[in-house]
Formats: sequence, structure tokens, C-alpha cells
Amino acid sequence: MSYFTIEGRRPLKGEITISGAKNSGLKLMVASLLSKEPLILHNVPNIADIHTMCNLLTTLGKTVTKGADTHSLIIEGPVTSIEAPYDIVSQMRASILVLGPLLARSGEAKVSLPGGCAIGTRPVDLHLKGLEILGAEIELENGYINAKAPRGLAGGRITLPFASVGATENLLMAACLARGTTEIINAAREPEIADLVQCLNAMGARITGEHTGNLTIEGVESLHGAEYSVMPDRIECGTYACAAAITGGDLLLKGGRLLDQEAVMIALQKMGANVSEDEQGLRVSASQNLVGIDLMTEPYPGFPTDMQAQFMALFAVAEGASMITETIFENRFMHVPELNRMGANINIQGRSAIIRGVPRLSGAPVMATDLRASFSLILAGLVAEGTTILNRVYHLDRGYEGVERKLANCGASIKRIEEAA
Ligand code: UD1
Repeated sequence: MSYFTIEGRRPLKGEITISGAKNSGLKLMVASLLSKEPLILHNVPNIADIHTMCNLLTTLGKTVTKGADTHSLIIEGPVTSIEAPYDIVSQMRASILVLGPLLARSGEAKVSLPGGCAIGTRPVDLHLKGLEILGAEIELENGYINAKAPRGLAGGRITLPFASVGATENLLMAACLARGTTEIINAAREPEIADLVQCLNAMGARITGEHTGNLTIEGVESLHGAEYSVMPDRIECGTYACAAAITGGDLLLKGGRLLDQEAVMIALQKMGANVSEDEQGLRVSASQNLVGIDLMTEPYPGFPTDMQAQFMALFAVAEGASMITETIFENRFMHVPELNRMGANINIQGRSAIIRGVPRLSGAPVMATDLRASFSLILAGLVAEGTTILNRVYHLDRGYEGVERKLANCGASIKRIEEAA
């Protein structure tokens, strides 16, 4: 297992190129199940979750090869298996997204139930109820979802009680090949949904309404191949924006887009950071002490839960008190005890965390618990006095490409140490 050592208190200055979005790339890869023709994807991040998705698609019969450059993939060929096995789904929850496309294409699917995860119970009831409205027969047996649609799926009107990102994506992909028209009311509006819609439309789907929260999908007989470039990762961009702000640095985040993440950039500005956008990307700097603010996580366009942990690190050293209320996941404060071990003053009260800013943090051995929480500990390490040792960096490798390279290029002192197994 590898770990990071970080020497803090160096302002980050320079440029970081933002990779393709994990949360979009994974779904675009799944869309390949809807056609046997080649789907050529560009700007795919080189991260562990993408490798896991390659593995899952290969298990289902698809051929995945490298494209013209290291961030391109070609996915093609027929689906030859309808089973997403436990050993892959348990590594990555996003595997559940193959359910809708497999069902739509093959008339049946067997997908392991993902179960809980570090940040909460995360049920998939909305995915299943929506597929039932499209005519699927679903049974849960031996830890698997067995879904059948022997006569194919038929369009329907699905109202989501909560704008779940995953349920929207699963139903959207299934509805592309259903007979007739499907409406998804209260669909998620995250930018990754629009990216998926654009890719599916490039494959011949007929979907409208991707920015409105109400999606209309006119089913088509079949989809064809396409070539598409994954959108930039707004969460990676927001995370490095936090790195600039917390170290009093100045970073150009190449490829970053304000439009995908206004809530995050407005929060940084309210704290005293400078944010501007030009044709190259976003520039974020901080020349004064940050001040604390209150935040609540919400579905897009609200403040994203995937940026909550990173802002917690910022608040830990900001002037005054801040409060974060987490409304999306019930157990997403596992970074708090680790930040407190570095000298932060954070109290959890139910779904809220009260953070009283301290003048400085001190380096310590800490443990990563999930993807975004890991980066909050890196941010704390970048501003702390002394050495921070971050264990379990495999969490980071799931979703951030080249973390130590990107940070070290901008002046951070961060090293990956590979421990012998
Ligand atoms: C996706 C993102 C994740 C992000 C989250 C919220 C990917 C791979 N992951 O996760 O990074 O944090 O959106 O922006 O894109 N829920 C139910 N029943 C369901 C589905 C969801 O109760 O059937 C609940 C979940 O338990 C959770 C909330 O809804 O509390 C949000 O989940 P959802 O929007 O579905 O997130 P994911 O798609 O899993």
C-alpha cells in the first residue's frame, strides 16, 4: 500500500491541467452497452475507477482498447454476458449503471446489489422503481438484482422523489431503447447528466430537457457509434481551487469552467479568494486570510456534496466560525476526526458540522476514508506545520489523476512512498 508524505506551508503557484470528469467518463463508457458499434471517447481520466469500468465492460463482452492518445478509449462489440458480478460492483458503486442499458439492450440483467459504502447506506430503490415503470420485472435474490423485460421496455412517466444522479442516468440510458416516449420528472441537473445526454444524442438517441430537470426521451430502435470528449472534472477543478486558496497561492486551472461550478466559486469568493475566468480556464488565488462562511450541500446547481470535505479543510484555518450542513449523504463527516487530530476544532451536530477556525494546523499521520475526504487531508497537510503522512491513498487514486505530480509541479512538497506488500 502506498502513502503520501506532505511538508506544509508552501504556497502553490503555477498551472494545473484539469483531467476529464470521473463522474461523466464512467457513464459515457456505460453508454457503449447500447450499441455494438465503436464508441470513441477522448479526455478519459487515467484513474482506478475508469480501469474498474474497463474491467466490468470487458466482463460483459465489450472490447476496450486504447485510442490515439493515453486519454482515449475505443469501446465496441456485442454484449455477451448480462451479469455484473459482486467482485466488481463491490469495488465501485457506479457499476449499478449497467443495469438499465443491459435491460434495454438484452431484455435481462443480473447485477450485484452495491450495498452500503463509507459515506452512507446509498440504496438503489429509485433506479429499480423507475425501471419497473418502464415495464421491467425485478426480483432481488442472493444479493443480486435480477431484472427482466422479455417484451422490451416501454416508455413511461417517472417522477423521482429525489433528483438522484445515478437513478437519472440509469433510467435515461434504459429509456433510449424503450418503445415510445419516457419522461423523467425531477431528474438530476448535474452537468454530467448533460454530458451523457449529448453523448447519447451523438449516438442517435432523442433526448431533450437536460438542463431543466425534466427529461423527455423518445425511444429509438437502435443506437450507433460516436466520438465524444469527456467534460472537464468540475470536482477536481474545485479541489485544486481550494488548494490555491488554503495555501495563499495562485493557480491557473486549465480547462476549468465557471459555468459548471458557480456555487463552489461563489463560496470561495465569499471567503476572500479571487476567482477569474479566461479562455484557458479558471484562475484562483488568495492574498489575504480566508474568512469562514456557512454552507449547505444540495443537488446541482447547489453546493456539491463532493466538495464538502475540501471546504471543511479551508474552514478549519479560516477566521471565525463556519457551519456545513450535509443534506445528501448521511455519513459524510469521516474526515472530521482526522482533521481534528491535526489541530482543527470541528464539532458534529447531527447533519451539521460547526468549524471554529484555528490559526494553524500541525502535520500528523492521518487516514484517508473515501475519495473526497482524502483530499481534505491533503489540503490540511499543505497548510499544516510539519509533516503529514496520508495513509490509504488508494482512495485518491480512484478519482484523481496524478495528484502528487500536479501538486509538486506547483511547488508542493508531496511524495508518494510505495510500501512493499
Ligand atoms: C453521484 C456521484 C457522487 C456524488 C453524488 C451526489 C458518480 C459516480 N457519483 O452518486 O460522486 O456525490 O452523485 O452528487 O457520479 N438515493 C436513494 N435511492 C436511490 C438513489 C439514491 O435513496 O435509488 C439517495 C442516496 O442514498 C443519497 C442521495 O440519494 O443519499 C444522492 O444519491 P445520488 O444522487 O443517486 O448519488 P450517486 O449517483 O450514487
